[in-house]
Amino acid sequence: MSDREKLAIHGGTPVRDQARNPWPTWPIFDADEERALLGVLHSGNWWIVEGDEGKRFQEEFAAYHHARFGQVCTNGTAALEIALRALEIGCGDEVIIPPYTFIATASAVLAVGATPIFVDIQPDTLNIDPLQIEAAITSRTRAIIPVHMAGRPADMDAILAIAAKHHLAVIEDAAQAHGAEWRGTRVGALGDFGTFSFQASKNLNSGEGGMVLTNTETLADAAWSIINVGRYRDGHLPGYQVLGGNFRMTEFQSCILRTQLARLPEQTARRNANARTLCELLSGVPGILLPFDDPRITCNAYHLFTFRVDLDRLQGRTFPEFLTALRAEGVPCSSGYIPLYGEGIFTRLSHHDGHWRQTDSAPDYTALNLPVCEQVCRDTVWLPQTLLLAERSDMEDIAAALTKILL
Ligand SMILES: Cc1ncc(COP(=O)(O)O)c(C=O)c1O
Repeated sequence: MSDREKLAIHGGTPVRDQARNPWPTWPIFDADEERALLGVLHSGNWWIVEGDEGKRFQEEFAAYHHARFGQVCTNGTAALEIALRALEIGCGDEVIIPPYTFIATASAVLAVGATPIFVDIQPDTLNIDPLQIEAAITSRTRAIIPVHMAGRPADMDAILAIAAKHHLAVIEDAAQAHGAEWRGTRVGALGDFGTFSFQASKNLNSGEGGMVLTNTETLADAAWSIINVGRYRDGHLPGYQVLGGNFRMTEFQSCILRTQLARLPEQTARRNANARTLCELLSGVPGILLPFDDPRITCNAYHLFTFRVDLDRLQGRTFPEFLTALRAEGVPCSSGYIPLYGEGIFTRLSHHDGHWRQTDSAPDYTALNLPVCEQVCRDTVWLPQTLLLAERSDMEDIAAALTKILL
């Protein structure tokens, strides 16, 4: 066996030498971001209340996402909480969410005093399974939060139909889905609210940051008040309309986001082209299960490129050992989430000995076992979006590394 054939974990030559041939770094910026930052610095308007950058960015982002109203805020976690509060969801209410997501989808529900109800996901999209939502609806259910996982839109036709039938609100958690489209409409503009994150790893990045989108003026006004310490939007002083917080973003973040937004369409197109190439290259590799490409998804944001692995094909290796072997071949990757209800904080809440007290309706998360989520957490690989910003030939390296390990 030659050095090239021998796995890198066994001392062979890696498919890709990352020192000589590095993957694209993130974030991507140039003199445009420098100019924008210096512009804000010298203007002295660092506060969004007095500056223009935040106002212009929220208008530009809302227009890009086909929504009528956009409001920037501190981060994607706060955006979810703001949307829930604007919908007056709180104690005693239940909110349906998927268990394959970042903790914020659930912690925001708990932060407003409501109870997250986990509904299993589809194995081939990693998104909430609409066929299982209705069985979870009770008289307390107020909303559904679909997560557009990894940038792949959830089945919004089915989710919106169920929500309409049961008079539920829909908050799209689009933290990972900037620019993604469902049947030609960008996500975040399909539900009552859409929430986004601009945290450092995201496809649109200002270090930290968030956004709530809505098409409903009264909801936009409610969100504005919550973001702005509860003040009246019409400038009415003194006094406060609601119990709000300070969820404002700064002008520095806003100006960075405006320049980054200008880069997003080209980057999204590049990620999609490379993802298509990668799917073609991987379709023949035994043991790799590619996600389902729903034709109603007219654009995938590809925050991550995900695929599942047939664990029986790992030739005696464990899944973590397989990931180590892939990294050794020069392909950055990770294993993603564990079922969110299995996180210690939720099991402690089930026992009522956490710092929070659940409502009487608190489900026993320790008894929960959602089989699809459990399985995909054991066999799903995440490749970061930065790999999809490389060249077509770089996709061949990913396929070659996987072929080397799996064949
Ligand atoms: C699905 C999802 N929801 C919410 C968030 C929270 O966003 P932030 O980190 O900006 O608070 C994230 C961020 O990682 C996320 O991936």
